[in-house]
Amino acid sequence: MDGARRALADELYAVSREHDAAQADRLDRFRNVEPETAELLGVLIRATSAQSILELGTSNGYSTIWLADAAQATGGRLLSLDVDASRTELARNNLAAAGLADLVELRTQDAGELLAGAPDQGWEFIFLDSERPAYVGYLPELIRTLAPRGVLAVDNVLSHAHELVEFTELIEREPGLTQTVVPVGAGLRLAVRDVA
Ligand SMILES: C[S@@+](CC[C@H](N)C(=O)[O-])C[C@H]1O[C@@H](n2cnc3c(N)ncnc32)[C@H](O)[C@@H]1O
Repeated sequence: MDGARRALADELYAVSREHDAAQADRLDRFRNVEPETAELLGVLIRATSAQSILELGTSNGYSTIWLADAAQATGGRLLSLDVDASRTELARNNLAAAGLADLVELRTQDAGELLAGAPDQGWEFIFLDSERPAYVGYLPELIRTLAPRGVLAVDNVLSHAHELVEFTELIEREPGLTQTVVPVGAGLRLAVRDVA
């Protein structure tokens, strides 16, 4: 990420943290991914040359800037969803300020609905960062829509492990995935779909 874009991302992160600290209800917080996790996502997309990238949980677009920056490096594109239309609009403005608007499709849409209608093995990289209770329901579709050698990255698996007990049990039983949990930020599960 170039210096000007990094400065913009850092500023957005700082402003979001300040906003979040003033919100009593967690759902009113932007809850941006930690910068070191965002950096790792950018490295992984570049390392895997992923071009079809999906983000579930845009918020105000902080992580989206990192994913789109990586998509620019691989010649790829990003689709990012949030159920909250006001957040989609914030993200639209932030991506435009970062010069990344052309690389990203932002939609106000439910993650489960999108996954159910997505083609088999279509995504080379998925970043899952929405509402954790829904993840168990998403799992079959996440696996169905992940490309061979595609990477699924799931945030908060250490910070909120207690909310992800069933999801963790299920995904760790999946035979077609090679996985690890990286203790970066809030804890990032990385699962690569094996080539059959
Ligand atoms: C943790 S925040 C995402 C933070 C963002 N990835 C970042 O790092 O800047 C979770 C977001 O998921 C959105 N969300 C919640 N349920 C959703 C659903 N079913 N489908 C899509 N987005 C959802 C929320 O509105 C919220 O903005």
